[in-house]
Amino acid sequence: MSETVESRLAALSTEEKADLVAGEAIWTTKSFPEAGIPAIGVTDGPNGARGGGLLGTGTATACIPAGAVLGATWDPELVERLGGVLGDEARAKGCRVLLAPTINLHRNPLGGRNFECYSEDPILSGLVAAAFVRGVQSRGVATTPKHFVANDSEFERNTIDSQVDERTLRELYLVPFEYAVAEGGTWGIMSAYNRLNGTFCSENEWLLTQVLREEWGFDGFVISDWFAARSTAGSARAGLSLEMPGPGQWYNQGPIGEALAAGEMDEGHLDRIAGDVLRLLERTGALAGDDGCEPGQEQELDRPEDQALLRGAAAAGTVLVANNGLLPLDPTTSGSVAVIGPNARKAQIMGGGSATVQAYRNVSLMDALDEEHPDLDVRYAQGCDIERSLIALSAPMLKGKLRLEYFNGHDWSGPVVHSRESASGEMVFFGEPGPGVNPEAFSVRASGVLVAEDTGQHTVGLVQLGRCRVLLDGEVVLDATEGDYDRGDDFFGMGSEVISAPVQLTAGRETPIVIEYSSRDSFMLCGARVGLKSQVDRDLIAEAEEAAAAADVAVVVVGTNADWETEGRDRDWFDLPGDQSELIRRVAAANPNTVVVVNTGGACNLDWAGEAAGVLVAGFGGQEMGYAVADVLFGAADPGGRMAMTVPARYEHSPAYLNYPGENGVVRYGEGLYIGHRWFDARAIEPAVPFGHGLSYATFEWSEPRVSGGGDTDLADPVILEVDVVNTGDRPGSDVVQVYVEPPPSLLHRPVRELKGFAKVHLAPGERTTARIVLNRRAFAYYDPGDQSPPGLEVGNPVPAGESHKRNDPGWYVDPGTYTVWTARSSADLVHAAEVHLSGS
Ligand code: BGC
Repeated sequence: MSETVESRLAALSTEEKADLVAGEAIWTTKSFPEAGIPAIGVTDGPNGARGGGLLGTGTATACIPAGAVLGATWDPELVERLGGVLGDEARAKGCRVLLAPTINLHRNPLGGRNFECYSEDPILSGLVAAAFVRGVQSRGVATTPKHFVANDSEFERNTIDSQVDERTLRELYLVPFEYAVAEGGTWGIMSAYNRLNGTFCSENEWLLTQVLREEWGFDGFVISDWFAARSTAGSARAGLSLEMPGPGQWYNQGPIGEALAAGEMDEGHLDRIAGDVLRLLERTGALAGDDGCEPGQEQELDRPEDQALLRGAAAAGTVLVANNGLLPLDPTTSGSVAVIGPNARKAQIMGGGSATVQAYRNVSLMDALDEEHPDLDVRYAQGCDIERSLIALSAPMLKGKLRLEYFNGHDWSGPVVHSRESASGEMVFFGEPGPGVNPEAFSVRASGVLVAEDTGQHTVGLVQLGRCRVLLDGEVVLDATEGDYDRGDDFFGMGSEVISAPVQLTAGRETPIVIEYSSRDSFMLCGARVGLKSQVDRDLIAEAEEAAAAADVAVVVVGTNADWETEGRDRDWFDLPGDQSELIRRVAAANPNTVVVVNTGGACNLDWAGEAAGVLVAGFGGQEMGYAVADVLFGAADPGGRMAMTVPARYEHSPAYLNYPGENGVVRYGEGLYIGHRWFDARAIEPAVPFGHGLSYATFEWSEPRVSGGGDTDLADPVILEVDVVNTGDRPGSDVVQVYVEPPPSLLHRPVRELKGFAKVHLAPGERTTARIVLNRRAFAYYDPGDQSPPGLEVGNPVPAGESHKRNDPGWYVDPGTYTVWTARSSADLVHAAEVHLSGS
């Protein structure tokens, strides 16, 4: 403990220490001015720094590509720079903690938060996580890699018991966290909602003390996921440092005082966790005095250099899965382009849930083409609908922005006390709705202009947390200010069912819209979502076919939205939603020059891929996504991404298929070590797209690897591989040298091959460099939990015991033998092999 932490701790009474370890409010900690301890702000995380808002409300901020795109960059150095941007953004939002990164693994393609997580692979996730942590923390902002651990699905996420054997935990699910601690030096960790082998993660002593602190040497704070704390003494003894959000339910002077009095915990436990919180304040500069990073003081940065970095990052994480030579397109000779798909005009730049931020901008492919290729002959066709439930009103039907005026009181009367603009028909309020607005009773009038694309019947829909009505042309068309409504599953299950009414609109005509919201009858969370949908019967696929047939090239942007891929719920199915697969097939049949851009967060069914001339997986690419997709389509940027997850040919081939989502409150990780490429190799199942695959517009040649420390080694020094890479193409591009280790027959069952390292290189035409990959002992080792059998099993057996194939001592072991170290372009495209003879250790 540093002197500063020690002296501040000594200045606090037991009651104050007990209060310090619980938050003050949803995004703040408590202050103790007399002891020189200020409050600090925390913010989600992980693709932006949102500040005090909730669900995409609040001050605008930079929205970097989502986690799965960062994983697909295979570029820790780039991710570290993006982390720096988020560190700056967090401070600009008055926050010293960024609730990020999300580093659970893609165990199953349907995981609702896969978009937030980097990869199926622990090493790729770990190296990217460590870089992210270094980048954010370089700005004096703490990170909280989350959710520790085995929170790989949203199914019953608050209570599910993830039953995972120790070897699988150690070799897979703990690894990204271990990297974040050992190589990232993270100051915080967020404990998960779920149980791990029967004990809630927030009170799991094995996890939070034995593994995290004693084995890994972590000396930071453990923050609970929001409302994830489950006990007082149990959590304190286990090492949960800070209960969030405030005011605490389990921590603060009431319950902690009782637990101390009952002898369930002692002052030492309290000092330890209070010390963790003080160390956080010290490390982030909060104890040193006023440096302008105060909760509630929020500013927008929106720096041009960040925009450029984010644009490059989205291209660097875009994977060119297939290309028959059509790509890159030449904007000067491409002729006309049919741009098709709902996501072509409304890019899905991030997923749903707590990761949602109010981005500085949301650039779709259509926006980018309009702005940067105005001479291109572009025709748009929507192709199909992909709505899961009510979608909030936004551009292009909403012309410009809504102007929101806030009133104190429930009935939109009196002076306007606050105002702001919004690009969406969704408003959410939690805590303070705005400066000067009474959170107990307020109302909001949002006014704007609609322009419909069809003439005829439309449906206006509403989900409310409170009371709301909608006016078009000054007439009330939907009024839910009275009456009873059932609950639906929006707004964390707290919103009403969708309430709707028919309206008539005329294509192209400007129609004034007013949404009047009152917080009357709301509880805790307030807000409303208003959407408008055309009911005019149109054959959208036929329109798309026609547009495609009339154009030289068709670009179909397919995907999901934040309703399909969100925190709180896993995805419903593996296929693209709506009629998108059929849309692709029919457009590709109408025009052989069809390129498909996949705008989903996690893996989806690509069974149509063989019919397209080119397939790009762009993921949720962040605020500059449209520019980046255009850059890659037209060759201004190389598609730098490599798949961070295996895409199965059929959902039934997924590793966790038989053990997902769980039943009777338990999910058994029955596939053990065999997720992702480990599974597909072990079972000899051919995936649709292998892990690590991705094409460049350049071509590269690799030398045989030079292995130092090769031959016989006891791994006292790491094994180092060097591969000369030369760009033999005529464009600049990037390549990823992936290294997979294939062990000899071992005492325990092992995957055929596992990714153990990689290096990304960027080369101009003709340029050459040397990729260097370091393999330490762990790259060859496996974790043996040791023989768990009770003693004396052989007693009374007349047949002599055979040779024992067990060890008693748990630990990491390297079996002696010849290991094949492969350089590879993907888990299925092995390039060169080198042998390393290990003496075992
Ligand atoms: C999520 C966390 C998030 C927290 C605060 C939880 O529901 O699981 O990832 O940081 O909310 O928004």
